[in-house]
Amino acid sequence: MGLKAGIIGCGSITKFRHAPEYKVNPYVDDIVFYDRNPERAEALAEMFGGTVALSVEDLLDDPSIQIVSDCSSNEYHHIFSTQALLNGKHVLCEKPISLTIEDAKEIIEAQKKSGKVLMVDHNQRFTRTHQKAKEMIDSGALGKVLTFKTTFGHKGPEHWGVNKSNSTWFFKKDRSRFGVAGDLGIHKIDLLHYLLNDNIEQVSAFQGALDKVDEKGHPIEVCDNIVCTLKTKQGRLGTASFSWTYYGEEDNSTIIYCEKGILKVYHSEEYQLQVIFNNGEKENYMLESIQTNDHQTNSGVIDAFIDCILFNKDPVVSGEDALASLKVIIGILEAAEINRVVTI
Ligand SMILES: NC(=O)c1ccc[n+]([C@@H]2O[C@H](COP(=O)([O-])OP(=O)(O)OC[C@H]3O[C@@H](n4cnc5c(N)ncnc54)[C@H](O)[C@@H]3O)[C@@H](O)[C@H]2O)c1
Repeated sequence: MGLKAGIIGCGSITKFRHAPEYKVNPYVDDIVFYDRNPERAEALAEMFGGTVALSVEDLLDDPSIQIVSDCSSNEYHHIFSTQALLNGKHVLCEKPISLTIEDAKEIIEAQKKSGKVLMVDHNQRFTRTHQKAKEMIDSGALGKVLTFKTTFGHKGPEHWGVNKSNSTWFFKKDRSRFGVAGDLGIHKIDLLHYLLNDNIEQVSAFQGALDKVDEKGHPIEVCDNIVCTLKTKQGRLGTASFSWTYYGEEDNSTIIYCEKGILKVYHSEEYQLQVIFNNGEKENYMLESIQTNDHQTNSGVIDAFIDCILFNKDPVVSGEDALASLKVIIGILEAAEINRVVTI
């Protein structure tokens, strides 16, 4: 008998990642869908096979469901993920883990109490290109990392979410809270922590709602752009820009400048990883392109989550990892608001 997965929230990330990846995982043989808009759950149950739960309690109380993907919007993660853990389910929570540090801690506490697996979907750690970049940094071949710059931007969540309009929850302060910083920025903060084996310790930032408007035509309540300077515990210096207004083409690139050379990640379409040594020699790697909103590929996140459950592995992204990135995002927004450097 295989595992049974319950998915809460049947919007875009469920349609493009969780459902298709559970469907092809060899250890999962049933999916139960729940959404407070029942027609969304029904549509995905039809598309991927599976059944529909009539309430979130039905799903969370069902003893035949061992694993839960929390794909609700950000403000519900701490409620559903906490309850699922306390009900004895393994949980894959979408990012950001929550809207506040306290809520994230509540989820982490529930994990400790339950002893079940908690993983958070910071999927950038799973791309072959990022893993290869980390291997190169860890090998010491390029010497110490000195500085870095990273960016993540696309044309905005009103082109991605199930509600493709300016009334999307991504634009609402009480629901997304962090705007583009929590949507795209948090991925790169987690990636930097992972690549550098280091944590961001000090931040400054400028933010704005430069272009997006809500359903009434007013500028949105959260930022659609934010640019930051970052300093890590080990003293590395870097910059980061996150944007919902990169119209025309996504940018998901990172450059790491080391003592003995440069790592360029997702800069060239042909070569996902380029290494330029101090003597001018170059190594180009064709690995795989990153998932974009318009081109979703298997992220490997579900397989890794299931492996943790079945083979007792540590989650690649733990609750504590997700909390560390959340703290940086909260610090970045505070820095932008008070116009000062913030220590995390
Ligand atoms: N890891 C990634 O790369 C990635 C990418 C996109 C989105 N996300 C995250 O996934 C989550 C969902 O995002 P999305 O893009 O699928 O959004 P979406 O708007 O497309 O879908 C969200 C769905 O959740 C449902 N929902 C919200 N609150 C609910 C509740 N209380 N009970 C039941 N259903 C509820 C909505 O009805 C909607 O169908 C968000 O936290 C987002 O940040 C992660």
